[in-house]
Amino acid sequence: MRAVTWQGRRKVSVETVPDPTIQEPTDAIVRITTTGLCGSDLHLYEVMGPFLDAGDILGHEPMGVVEAVGSAVTELKPGDRVVVPFQIACGSCFMCDRRLYSQCETTQTREQGMGANLFGYTKLYGQVPGGQAEYLRVPQANFTHIKVPDGPPDERFVYLSDVLPTAWQAVEYADIEDGGTVAILGLGPIGEMAARIAANRGHRVVGIDVEADRLKRSGAWDGVETYEYSAEIGDQVRDLTGGRGPDVVIDAVGMEAHGSPVAKALHQMTSFLPDPLAAAMFKTAGVDRLAALKAAVDMVRRGGTISLIGVYGGEADPLPLMTMFDKQVQLRMGQANVKAWSDDILPLVLHDADPLGVESFHTHSVPLEQAPAAYDMFQKKEDGAIKVVFKS
Ligand SMILES: NC(=O)c1ccc[n+]([C@@H]2O[C@H](COP(=O)([O-])OP(=O)(O)OC[C@H]3O[C@@H](n4cnc5c(N)ncnc54)[C@H](O)[C@@H]3O)[C@@H](O)[C@H]2O)c1
Ligand SMILES: [Zn+2]
Ligand SMILES: [Zn+2]
Repeated sequence: MRAVTWQGRRKVSVETVPDPTIQEPTDAIVRITTTGLCGSDLHLYEVMGPFLDAGDILGHEPMGVVEAVGSAVTELKPGDRVVVPFQIACGSCFMCDRRLYSQCETTQTREQGMGANLFGYTKLYGQVPGGQAEYLRVPQANFTHIKVPDGPPDERFVYLSDVLPTAWQAVEYADIEDGGTVAILGLGPIGEMAARIAANRGHRVVGIDVEADRLKRSGAWDGVETYEYSAEIGDQVRDLTGGRGPDVVIDAVGMEAHGSPVAKALHQMTSFLPDPLAAAMFKTAGVDRLAALKAAVDMVRRGGTISLIGVYGGEADPLPLMTMFDKQVQLRMGQANVKAWSDDILPLVLHDADPLGVESFHTHSVPLEQAPAAYDMFQKKEDGAIKVVFKS
């Protein structure tokens, strides 16, 4: 089959690789029809090289049709149309019982000290072959799927793999009171979808980004006002909220935040170090890459909540703890627990009116074969690229 493979920093290629096969009785093989390119894939493309091997298959936002199932798979059969969540979860361990599917204890790679295995997401998360491919082996297939009906186009459903549940969890964890205001830092697909969800729930939404086309696109959604990020953004947002600050701030930026020059240098440096050194540095280095999170701490009202959905690396970044304590800030974060939210989201994506605008959400739809050019375009934010989907 053909698959998008990582080959080195800022280098992916589409290669012919062996078709995946059933390896465990709980596996399924899915023929992929549509799959997304994600902001998280850029972390791999850009800075997480120490955790990848040349040839690793990327991608974690796939959907398609079940081709084959292992002998213990009772919940799926060939021909079923499914979306595959980005995380692999058993559905029945201690963590899954608590709906913390991204912490599944059956699939964790314990030697890395990280949560549930993820598709196409480095040795930290199991080095599981990803979904930007013609076929995907889905472990724990009895639980690791979302069945969707035949009929509507893939674009209605594909974001159930990541964008929708991630944005939904960001808003749920934000716990915004009726009539409350939420500021959203970062208007990539995750921040933009969170803005739509919060606006549809009737909250006042203030979206912030550094890119003009993203500000324009999000600002076009009913109920979302947008502002350009700057060093004065805290004062600006406070002024919008009578001097108090928004009840909630969602950080949907993550570790490549603009305004963190030291972080950029460190990220670049790690890509020139031998892998073990670079990996250790990535996990433990203390640098200031927290422009967006610091802006969140600064602008959130006292007693408010920060819902952190962007992905961060490292462990010793200096956080403004005194301010966080004094302002009595609540901080919620984590990898989205995809299936905790899919039953709530499905009726919205199936609704005739498409209230979250999923069908027209992608900016680019390209054949899988064109993935290298699409990665390059997406990384450089060229041609208004906000969400790319691959077709196979
Ligand atoms: N928690 C999860 O389960 C989960 C799942 C998917 C994605 N993510 C993470 O969420 C984040 C967003 O994902 P995405 O696909 O929307 O990525 P993206 O890179 O497309 O979006 C990030 C946006 O932040 C903007 N930005 C950069 N610096 C900023 C600043 N200082 N202030 C305001 N905006 C700034 C960028 O211009 C960009 O539009 C990433 O870190 C991604 O890894 C987390
Ligand atoms: Zn993703
Ligand atoms: Zn589990």
